[in-house]
Amino acid sequence: MRLFFALWPDEHVREALEGWSLRAQAACGGRAIPADKLHLTLIFVGGFERSRMAGLEAAADTVCGAPFDLTLDTLGYWRHNRIVWAGASRCPPALATLAGSLRAALAALGLPGDDRAYAPHMTLVRNAERKPPANTVAPQPWPAREFVLVESAPVSGGVRYDVLRRWPLTAHSL
Ligand code: 2AM
Repeated sequence: MRLFFALWPDEHVREALEGWSLRAQAACGGRAIPADKLHLTLIFVGGFERSRMAGLEAAADTVCGAPFDLTLDTLGYWRHNRIVWAGASRCPPALATLAGSLRAALAALGLPGDDRAYAPHMTLVRNAERKPPANTVAPQPWPAREFVLVESAPVSGGVRYDVLRRWPLTAHSL
């Protein structure tokens, strides 16, 4: 199975971000991500044996994240993979801490890590033909109160994302 940990938007945030992705597609071409697939990856696990799921969940149980408020206020474009993404000009420390804690928990399981710096982004459009016009988005608050484990399952013509489990963010921030 192919897995990743993510922040999954609630209905309100998802509706707003669906508008962003549709407008970005109109401006940049490419393929807008459907609303029910919009998410922000915390860490990508990749291929994983189903028989080891209990160990992975136990590792995530050790992650004690604090709730935080994220504000998406930036549209960006990566030329190398032609995605248009939504991001935050200010990364809340609790988000970086959460991603780092998950990375450490996975490393303790012996999973290969990703040495690149964490770059929080929500992919809005794939195969974009051009970058979006200068920033035209109204800041979108996102109260993050949980993180989720998601399976990316191949289906004809693409992938399906199944949220397998949710963990509340309940720790007190320092
Ligand atoms: P992307 O949107 O920038 O492509 C499911 O595929 C999620 O995992 C997506 O958010 C995707 O990021 C991310 N992802 C896919 N492959 C990855 C990889 N090799 N390393 C890090 N993140 C990856």
